[in-house]
Amino acid sequence: MIDSAFRVAAQGKINLGLRVLAREVGGYHQLETVFARLDLADELVVTIGGAGRSLDVQGADTGPVEGNLAWRAAHLFAELVGWPAAFRLELTKRIPVGGGLGGGSADAAAVLRALNAAAPAPASQAALLRMAFHLGADVPFLTTEFALALAWGRGERLLRLPTIDSRPVVLLVPPFGVATAEAFAWLAADRERDGAGGAEPALIAPAGNIDWRALEALAGNDLEAPVRRRHQQLGAVLDALRAALPDRWIDMTGSGSTLFALDASREVATSLPEDWGVLETTAPAAARPIERLE
Ligand code: C5P
Repeated sequence: MIDSAFRVAAQGKINLGLRVLAREVGGYHQLETVFARLDLADELVVTIGGAGRSLDVQGADTGPVEGNLAWRAAHLFAELVGWPAAFRLELTKRIPVGGGLGGGSADAAAVLRALNAAAPAPASQAALLRMAFHLGADVPFLTTEFALALAWGRGERLLRLPTIDSRPVVLLVPPFGVATAEAFAWLAADRERDGAGGAEPALIAPAGNIDWRALEALAGNDLEAPVRRRHQQLGAVLDALRAALPDRWIDMTGSGSTLFALDASREVATSLPEDWGVLETTAPAAARPIERLE
């Protein structure tokens, strides 16, 4: 018997600036980033009850079920909260996979939000964020309802930033992805070779309100250099876009491979290699509410 069902928009993110600080003994890196939630979302339907546990993914190949972050999030929640015994997850993928847009993390975050909203004895906000942290660096932000946040640590320390006006964003999606672990390993190897430490000291002191101009001071992604060295086409596209549109904010999101152009229109894609994809969305976007289906 089905107890209840919910539909959630699993919204992705872009990183407006990403600094990679020290490498921890365990290999992880301390980060400093500004997350902006995207309107672009996967669709997740969570059905609670019925028989057993299942996951159905449409629209993209996300690999084996056991590795799927939404699946892992549901199991982790069920284990720690002791509920629900049975569930069905139906995912429709729209966010490119392996693109630095937080697609898998958004799915995991949507599962945590939906299950906690439905749970007879919900987890505390702190416990929910601990689960999110366990699932990956992008999951805590996406589990909140923040549109915009400064994040540090491994992405689990979050300062909500005041909402600013939402802007159009064009996403330029290469035919190849970049594995997060690989991008961080390339950066670590480059730094070791160059005898370089982590990112420079920074002082974030916006004069007055946070606005786009204040955020632009944080632009730049420490993973860009190591990624473009291994993916020269990505570097060439970035250079061409920046030369053609010097007054637009154009950067790589996360560990790539997706590039974003802020305040740009689809025309930004005219000279793109044929096998790249283009998606139009907006950021920062408010978190959409969970919809109860039955
Ligand atoms: O957080 P996520 O699971 O996406 O990270 C994948 C891998 O990327 C980690 O296992 C680690 O090797 C690397 N990483 C890192 N420092 C971070 C985030 C990720 O070194 N802050």
